Amino acid sequence: MGLLTVLSALSLLGSVQAEFNVVRHVSQAPRAEVATDLPPAEFSVSFTAKTPRRSSKRTALEALTGRPSKKRPGVRAATAGGGDTVVVDGSDFDEEYLTNFTVGGQPFSLIVDTGSSDTWVPQIGFNCFDLDGNPVPETTCAFGTPGFNIKASKTFQPFPNVSFNITYGDGEFLSGPVGFDTISIGGLSVTHQEIAVPNLAAWEGDGVNTGLAGFAFSGLTSVFNTTDPTKASSENQLPYNPLFLTAVNEKKVANPFFSIALDRGTFDQQENDPFDPNLGFISFGGIAPVPVVNTAVTVPVQGYSATTGLPENGPGAEFFFYTVDIQSYTFPGSNRLVTANNNTILDTGTTLNFVPTDVAAAYNAQFKPKAVLDEDFDLYVVDCDATVPPFDVTIGGKTFSIDARDQIIPAGTDDNGNIICITGTQDGGPAGNGDIFIMGDVFLHNVVATFNPVAGEVTLIQRAKY
Ligand SMILES: *[C@@H]1O[C@H](CO)[C@@H](O)[C@H](O)[C@H]1NC(C)=O
Ligand SMILES: *[C@@H]1O[C@H](CO)[C@@H](O)[C@H](O)[C@H]1NC(C)=O
Ligand SMILES: *[C@@H]1O[C@H](CO)[C@@H](O)[C@H](O)[C@H]1NC(C)=O
Ligand SMILES: *[C@@H]1O[C@H](CO)[C@@H](O)[C@H](O)[C@H]1NC(C)=O
Ligand SMILES: *[C@@H]1O[C@H](CO)[C@@H](O)[C@H](O)[C@H]1NC(C)=O
Repeated sequence: MGLLTVLSALSLLGSVQAEFNVVRHVSQAPRAEVATDLPPAEFSVSFTAKTPRRSSKRTALEALTGRPSKKRPGVRAATAGGGDTVVVDGSDFDEEYLTNFTVGGQPFSLIVDTGSSDTWVPQIGFNCFDLDGNPVPETTCAFGTPGFNIKASKTFQPFPNVSFNITYGDGEFLSGPVGFDTISIGGLSVTHQEIAVPNLAAWEGDGVNTGLAGFAFSGLTSVFNTTDPTKASSENQLPYNPLFLTAVNEKKVANPFFSIALDRGTFDQQENDPFDPNLGFISFGGIAPVPVVNTAVTVPVQGYSATTGLPENGPGAEFFFYTVDIQSYTFPGSNRLVTANNNTILDTGTTLNFVPTDVAAAYNAQFKPKAVLDEDFDLYVVDCDATVPPFDVTIGGKTFSIDARDQIIPAGTDDNGNIICITGTQDGGPAGNGDIFIMGDVFLHNVVATFNPVAGEVTLIQRAKY
């Protein structure tokens, strides 16, 4: 069932959350010369990064690594709406990027995810479950609001006889009804967006987000032609246009692309702040307003074969994620390895980079002192003051560098209260098994990424050092 391996694949998203600092007409953009003719955005919305689940930092680390559905981070087969699927996980403990939306006029902070495609907000009165499927109090799901009040929306229209069913890579899952409503983000307002309003949620919330907005392709959407969400399958999937494609179809944006610049928080913020406003932008119809340098490339999104589920170009290829062809990773000693990989996605919703096993091992061995694979957590743990080896990513002939500060991340404390650090570039599994690898926030902090789902292209521009 090759198709199924990608059909409902989802990246687990951390939570992208943002406050609504709408920046219009980004002419204020302090941009350097750019080797691209992308126009500045008509408007941008700033991100707020949230550091979730910090009540116990130790728990935060365990949550990253010890969730029921997985033994190790990376991309794993798991059950999701649609049966056998590939899911992406390994994020969700450090910084989330969220932004304010309104749905039917009601305000919610939603995770912004380029690694999945559905937009959902739980409806008021939803039933909360733990990840094992046991009912728990609603507050355990820790959404930022009680949920969406369908009756109070003057614009909500139900979509009868279908249901939403999704399972994310860390075991979080949701299901329930579907409808259409007006969704706004910043100055962008889409009037007839298909949206899930789950009445069942197993969610490890942060007390701020009340759902998620997916920006990947329609092939990844999780609405099914059945009133019973447990009967979701690839056969009854009803793919639909995600939010941004609806905006394009409704002619709400001048250009069919959106652009994301995620700022890194400082080490101190990552370690201590529950909430950091203004940590980047999502911009619509133009490029995000941050300073850049003259390294830029536009590359096609890599499609997948409907029959094998493996990366494939050509007429039969289907699009799911923003998959790019990595020409090489470059770091001390990397010339001894094959580092090319054509099954790597750009995912705002995943904090870390996940690269093939041998690449991760070779890179992590270059830290001084070496990063070591922690058996309990299945993560490379490193001295917080270690010397970071350079790590460059070559895509489409252009080489993008990752700042050393992105490669050491505080992730909890040990029994003695000492900070544990993990590296930014981790093991995503062996190459060649059909596993999907991830360039997550660790990479994305260093570029402006502009996604054109209509042309099937991504433009990357190296950011000026900040
Ligand atoms: C975003 O939404 C939250 C929650 O409603 C609100 O407190 C905050 O002021 C909003 N941010 C902006 C910039 O509007
Ligand atoms: C939904 O299903 C019911 C029962 O099967 C049927 O009577 C009704 O016509 C359906 N509605 C739509 C809009 O398809
Ligand atoms: C949903 O399934 C019913 C049969 O159960 C079929 O009549 C209908 O055409 C399907 N709807 C779509 C949109 O495929
Ligand atoms: C989602 O669908 C799968 C079958 O594809 C099913 O096993 C699972 O129980 C469903 N989840 C929910 C929450 O209904
Ligand atoms: C992706 O890489 C694999 C393994 O190197 C190769 O067999 C396959 O042809 C590549 N696919 C595309 C579309 O380049």
